[in-house]
Order: sequence, then structure tokens, then C-alpha cells
Amino acid sequence: MTVAAARPVTPVGIAAALLTSVESRLDGADPDVLADLARARTLLHGLDDYVARCTSPASPALVALEDRTRAEPWEGHLEQEMLSGHVEGAFLRMLVAITGARRVLEIGMFTGYSALAMAEAMPADAHLVACELDDRAAAIAREGFAASPAGGLIDVRVGPAADSLRQLGADGEWFDLVFIDADKAGYADYLDLLLDLDLLAPGAVVCVDNTLLQGEPWASLSPTTNGAAIAAFNARVAADDRLEQVLLPLRDGVTLIRRVS
Ligand SMILES: C[S@@+](CC[C@H](N)C(=O)[O-])C[C@H]1O[C@@H](n2cnc3c(N)ncnc32)[C@H](O)[C@@H]1O
Repeated sequence: MTVAAARPVTPVGIAAALLTSVESRLDGADPDVLADLARARTLLHGLDDYVARCTSPASPALVALEDRTRAEPWEGHLEQEMLSGHVEGAFLRMLVAITGARRVLEIGMFTGYSALAMAEAMPADAHLVACELDDRAAAIAREGFAASPAGGLIDVRVGPAADSLRQLGADGEWFDLVFIDADKAGYADYLDLLLDLDLLAPGAVVCVDNTLLQGEPWASLSPTTNGAAIAAFNARVAADDRLEQVLLPLRDGVTLIRRVS
């Protein structure tokens, strides 16, 4: 089976691809300019690979789940590039381990890579609720979870995440760690629901993916709907006195948020 190559979806990957393209069109240019360009391209191009090489490897179950996801002929609004992958998965697993989170919520599970990565760091009596809208993605996730001992900790809720959050609130659930990675236009509502429904334990961490949105918030003259939504979300978080946050330039940007009042 032919597996389509993933296109660049991070600011660094996009910049590296642009520099490669510019370089290929500069035949005959000043050698000093070409040398500087080659250096800039190398700095950017090799970064993701180097970061991956210096990060603990993914488990066989995660590698299999990634391979399975890449082999699926995605169409419509789902694509293989949605999968967070090795380095972000390792980051999330580390976050669970160092916070000691035992009750974890994921909003936007896709085929389950990040959910399984987090579950791998959780003790046997912990649990992770993973919300996903799409049946097909959820079915692939369930297959992957069944093939791993950590998969037994994951409770999949299929449907609009906002409905699942309201149900979790009504059931009196609360979480130590929340990973938001669903529709970008819904991010602000998800954060409001977490705060308003008391779904966050004291000291809980909310981790939000794609907060650099391929550079659109600062480098696009005509942002997409998603770019505009992320720009508005980042501004809303920064303006909220109840919250403290840090945006890490990991992959497509990850923001860590905690409630301070
Ligand atoms: C970027 S992907 C998640 C990737 C996943 N966290 C991972 O690391 O592999 C976003 C997912 O959110 C789901 N989604 C979009 N809107 C949603 C909604 N309203 N409720 C629940 N899930 C939603 C999409 O179907 C998609 O699978």
C-alpha cells in the first residue's frame, strides 16, 4: 500500500520547505547569499529530526497506531497530519508523569495517539476520558487501545465534545490534566466549559495544541478561519486574570494553562 507523505504543518517545517523552494529558484545568485540561505535551510530543516532523535522512542503500540493512521485513505476534514506524533506524544507522557495526573481528559482524540501516549504514563487505577466526534477515527483508536495494556484506561466518548463536557460536569467528574486538540473554533468554549463546570481539579493543567497554527497568528495577512480562531483564543487566554500560561514552540505550538485564582 502507498502511504502519502505528510505535508509540513508546523511553522518550522513550512519555513524549511519555503527556503528549499526559494533556493532551487536562485541559480546563479551571489554564492554568499546562497551559502547563507543553505545555512538557514539546514538550521530549520534538521530541527524536527534532531529533536526526535534526542527524545525517548515511542512504544511499539504507538508506532503501530501511527502506521495504521498513515495507511488510512483519509478524506474530508480528517487527514493523517492531525496525529500529534512521537515528540508531542513523549511530551504529553512526560507531563502526565511529572504532574502525577490520574484523571485525564482529552478533547479531540482522532485515532488515539496522544490519548494512548498519556495513558502509558498512568497507573492502573487512573483513567482517561477521550472525546471524539468522528466514528471512523474512534474505531481506529479503539483497535489501537485494544492492542495495548494502557488502552484499558481509556474511556472513549463519541459525539460533540461540548455535550460530553456537560455530561461530565453533570456527573461530578473532574480532571488533573486536560489536552485540548479538537476543532479550533471550539477552543474558547471548551476552556469556558472546563472553568464554569468545575471540571478542573485544584492545580490542574490545561494543555492546548496548535496554538501557533502554522504561524498564521503573526505571519499571515489573510488568516484562515482556524488561524483567526487561534489568534482570538490566545488573546482571550492572555487577557484572563484567572489564568497563567506559557506557549511552547513545540511542533505547531502547545500552550500550558493553569488557574491561579
Ligand atoms: C487534531 S485531531 C486530534 C489529534 C489527536 N489528539 C492526536 O494526537 O492524534 C482533532 C480531532 O478533533 C475531532 N473533533 C473536531 N470537532 C470536534 C467536536 N466538536 N467534538 C469532538 N471532537 C471533535 C476531529 O474529528 C479530529 O479527530
